[in-house]
Formats: sequence, C-alpha cells, structure tokens
Amino acid sequence: MGDNGSDGKNTLTVRDNRTGREYEIDIQDGDVIRAMDIRQIKVSDDDFGMMSYDPAFSNTASTRSAITFIDGGKGILEYRGYPIEQLAERSTYLEVAYLILKGELPTKAELDGFTHNITNHTYVHENFRRLMRGFRYDAHAMSMVISGVAALNTFYPDGSDVRDPQNRWLQMQRLVAKMPTLAAYAYRHYRGLPAVYPENELSYTANFLNMLFRIGGREYKPNPVLERALDVLFILHADHEQNCSTTTMRVIGSAETDPYSALAGAMGALFGPLHGGANEAVLKMLNRIGSMENIPAFMKGVKNREERLMGFGHRVYKAYDPRANIIKRTADEVFEVTGRNPLLDIALELERIALDDDFFVSRNLYPNVDFYSGLIYQALGFPVEMFPVLFAIPRTVGWLAQWEEMLEDKEQRISRPRQIFTGRAKRDFVPIEER
Ligand code: CMC
Repeated sequence: MGDNGSDGKNTLTVRDNRTGREYEIDIQDGDVIRAMDIRQIKVSDDDFGMMSYDPAFSNTASTRSAITFIDGGKGILEYRGYPIEQLAERSTYLEVAYLILKGELPTKAELDGFTHNITNHTYVHENFRRLMRGFRYDAHAMSMVISGVAALNTFYPDGSDVRDPQNRWLQMQRLVAKMPTLAAYAYRHYRGLPAVYPENELSYTANFLNMLFRIGGREYKPNPVLERALDVLFILHADHEQNCSTTTMRVIGSAETDPYSALAGAMGALFGPLHGGANEAVLKMLNRIGSMENIPAFMKGVKNREERLMGFGHRVYKAYDPRANIIKRTADEVFEVTGRNPLLDIALELERIALDDDFFVSRNLYPNVDFYSGLIYQALGFPVEMFPVLFAIPRTVGWLAQWEEMLEDKEQRISRPRQIFTGRAKRDFVPIEER
C-alpha cells in the first residue's frame, strides 16, 4: 500500500469499500500516519469520520520526543543519544539528571551549579514531619510519599505558573532535591525513628542514605560501593520514554496542572504491580517460592497461567532489558559487601529455566529491570515498601523532562482520547415506583 506519489511523498492509498472512494494519506517519519488524516474517510458529509481504536495505546505515538530512545527488539536504551551502558559506567546520577532535563551533558561549571542548587533545596517545611506523623504506623511508604509530593504544591503555589520556563526550572530542581527527603521521612516514620535532616555537603545518594539509616548523633558513613550502586540504580531508572506513569504525567500536565499534583499522579501509576510495583512483587514471589525444590511447581503454575513470573516480560523490550544486564553486575558488587542474598539463587535458577523454555522464549519474555533490583535494595537494607519509592526518586527527572517537553510542544493540547460508545441507546426516564 506504500506508494511514492508523483510529488515524491510517501503515501498510503486507502480504498473505502463502503463508498468505493480512495484516499491518499501521508506517511511521515518513515512509517507513521496521522490519526487525524483518517478522519476525512467518511460515508456521508455529516458522518464523524474514521477513528482508530487502540486500547492501552499499543500502536499509537502520542508525542514526538527527543529524550529517550529505546529499540526494544535490539535491547537498546539511550538518554539524549548516550547509551545507558556508558552512562551507568562513567557518569553520576546528577550528571544524568542534568542531561535528561537540559538535553546536553553539563560542563564542570554547569554541574557544580546544578549540584549546588539541588543540595540547597533538600530541606522541606517542618510541617512535613507532622504530615508524616499523621499516618498509621504501617502506612505504605509510597502512599506517604505520594501525599507528600502532592502537599508540596500547598507550600509552593508558585508552581502553578507552568508556562514560565524559569519558574518551571525552579520547581523541577525543588522536586529533584526534595524527593529523597520526603522518601526518607516516610521511611523513618515507618520504622518509628526520628527524622534526620539533609546534610548538604554529602552526595545526592550519600545524603539520602544518611537520612535513612543514621541512628542518633553517630556519624553514618555509607560504604562507597553501596553509595555508587544506588547511584547506578538511579541512573538506570531515570527515564523510559512513554510508559504508563510518564503518560500519566503528560496527560495530567496537559491540563496545565502544577508539577507537584501531576507528579503525585504519575507516582500513583508507578505504584501498580505491573509497573513500578513489580520489584516488590518479585521479592514477594521469591520469598513465596522459598527454596529451589519449589521452583518446578511454581513454573508449572506460570505456564498454566495461574500466575505471572514477575520481573519478566516488557511491553517494549522483546530482548534482554539492557538495564537488567547492568543491574545483574551491580548485584554482584553489592553482594561482595553485604553478603549474598539467598533469594539470588532462586532468581538465577528461574532465569536459567525461563531462558531455555519455549513458553518464555516464544513470547520474548526476558528479565526486566525489576527482576534483580529488589534483591539489591533488600541487600542495601530497604524494606519492600520502599522499592517503588526508590524507583520514583530517579524517575522524577524523566517525568519532569517529559512534562516540560509536552508543555513546549506546540502540537500538544489537553489530552482527550475518543471512545466507542457501547452503552444503551437513548431511553426515557422511569420513575422509581414504576421500575
Ligand atoms: N509471566 C508469564 N507470562 C507472561 C508474562 C510473565 N511475566 N508477561 C507476559 N506474559 C505472557 C502473557 O500471558 C501473554 O501470553 P499469551 O499471548 O499467550 O496470552 C504474552 O506473554 C504477552 O503478554 P502481554 O500481557 O500481552 O504483554 P504486555 O506487553 O501487555 O505486558 C508486562 C507487559 C510488563 C505488563 C507483562 O510482561 C507483565 O505482567 N510482567 C510482569 C510484571 C513486571 O515485571 N512488570 C515490570 C515491567 S518493567 C518496569 C516498568 O516498566 O515499570
């Protein structure tokens, strides 16, 4: 159907068998047609026109984006053109954060300035400690942090001026800086411990670890291997183009909502077990399997579709998730320091069986980023309730960059998908006595 028209343009010729009419539809960007171009296909003049039906947006590009490139078939992930392997090996999380937000790697002076700004925005209003104290002792850490992020808007109402780029940059730095503080406050509440204030001379991850794990006045020195491991995990989670939570961020933001409310919504999407909640689900699954001899029965259950092998499969990656490769290496480094997590052996065995089993191979199901990350987080001392929070902290950068890109994109308007109505045809109201 692809055609090289007389004007050299690639077009798609569509014949409507209902009317016998033919339409020429432009093919752009290699192999994309504009959904609005098929609206011209009509049976009569007062017809609404053709729509496409795409539940779960499986084959619909909702935006142009210059931030993250993924080739799911080849297992490639790049931020602003830089391969994830090089960034994980050679840069720091704050450097990557700057790259994702600004589009280019920072110069030394730019990175110093950005680091200075981030470390000077780590404090939150004292009322946040009271906010955290208001939650039940066993409140989920992610729910507490979502509430904290939404509450930031009450302290920074200037964030609503979303059309001012300078103002946006201020709010974005505030959010990147304050996420670890809110996360640590939630964790300390969960553990029944007093909050620890940020220490601005520490690195982004060392400050976070200090706020989490410091006890009393004793100095807390994070092991440099563990500090770096967390930094690498943050780099790997910084962005992943148009996934469920990022799309949520863009959709909420398209109503010109302030970034705090939009980000709280994105976090809600990330909380789901099929998205950012997957590493928590992986650990629960590994604990439930418990020992090697239970693996065959578990795998039988997966193949009988009684349950899913959590941490496997991905909507986009149909090859090994490149982040999973890096995480597996990071896990080895962490376990050298912390001792081996006994659940690792179960995970390795599950992977070995799955990569050799036609059920998984034929469906292109490989380990994703969440398969090993939970094991590292557990070795670092995090309870499972912190896992989605540990995903949300670095993803804040991706959400914000995508939000800003959406606001700057002249083609974007308030998001408003269509529906195919399947309800009852018009009928008259029946009084309650007659029903
Ligand atoms: N275990 C067993 N079977 C699976 C799994 C799995 N983890 N994932 C997919 N399948 C099967 C599924 O049953 C289906 O089989 P069939 O075609 O015979 O019906 C086929 O593979 C395709 O699955 P799908 O559900 O159509 O794929 P999807 O693109 O809608 O779902 C997914 C992607 C990530 C939600 C899914 O693979 C899944 O539930 N994985 C487990 C949860 C998980 O690890 N999520 C983390 C994703 S990575 C982090 C992130 O992006 O947040």
